[in-house]
Amino acid sequence: MLIVENIHSYYDKSHVLEGVSLRVNPGELVTLLGRNGAGKTTTLRSILGIICPRQGQIHFNGQALVPENRGIFRLLTVEENLRIAVRKTSRWQLEDVYGMFPRLKERRRNAGHALSGGEQQMLAIARALLNDPKLLILDEPTEGLAPVIVDELVKILRKVKDDGLPVLLVEQNLMVCDKLADRHYVLEQGRVVYEGSAAAFRADPTIKNRYLALSA
Ligand SMILES: Nc1ncnc2c1ncn2[C@@H]1O[C@H](COP(=O)(O)OP(=O)(O)OP(=O)(O)O)[C@@H](O)[C@H]1O
Ligand SMILES: [Mg+2]
Repeated sequence: MLIVENIHSYYDKSHVLEGVSLRVNPGELVTLLGRNGAGKTTTLRSILGIICPRQGQIHFNGQALVPENRGIFRLLTVEENLRIAVRKTSRWQLEDVYGMFPRLKERRRNAGHALSGGEQQMLAIARALLNDPKLLILDEPTEGLAPVIVDELVKILRKVKDDGLPVLLVEQNLMVCDKLADRHYVLEQGRVVYEGSAAAFRADPTIKNRYLALSA
């Protein structure tokens, strides 16, 4: 599905990713964890081709799609924002995403700028789904959201996963990761320092203390 092999990415002269390898298999939800500045967003940018690694390879079967900056048109309504993303060939149509996100249906006539942070995040994910992605990539979707909204997002992401869409999730909220992930990677200073199944990660609290304590 997605295979990242030994990529080295730079910002100008600064060597940020020093040989990152990871993979997302069909149907998997994989998290990329790590403290602030570890290189998580840079890894996603490299996968999306926003920056070009100077070494290494990325194999990807299909088109990735990220809600960049949530990418919402502030002056359009929720429904207008959704309609421009609809594709006749997608397995997710307008009614499907309204079924998944009842909150968006309730607010379908509201303007994009009138949504809460959590609603904007839902709209961004809904738009990504309408676009028929082969892989959903999310960079800290729950950041700054109230706990009830985080729970709603977790349910939605679980549905996405159950529908068979693979997900690569950067997330600092370990509870969210624990509820959703099949596997985890931990990045530290641009390197993968841990890789393991959700069960192995859960069973070994020293990993969290060693690599994540400051950001948990
Ligand atoms: N546009 C940029 N130009 C120069 N350096 C950058 C740029 N973006 C990030 N960096 C640096 O690259 C390193 C990795 O940053 P990155 O944004 O990938 O971290 P992150 O793991 O996503 O962190 P966070 O959890 O804070 O989002 C950091 O040292 C950061 O300062
Ligand atoms: Mg980041």
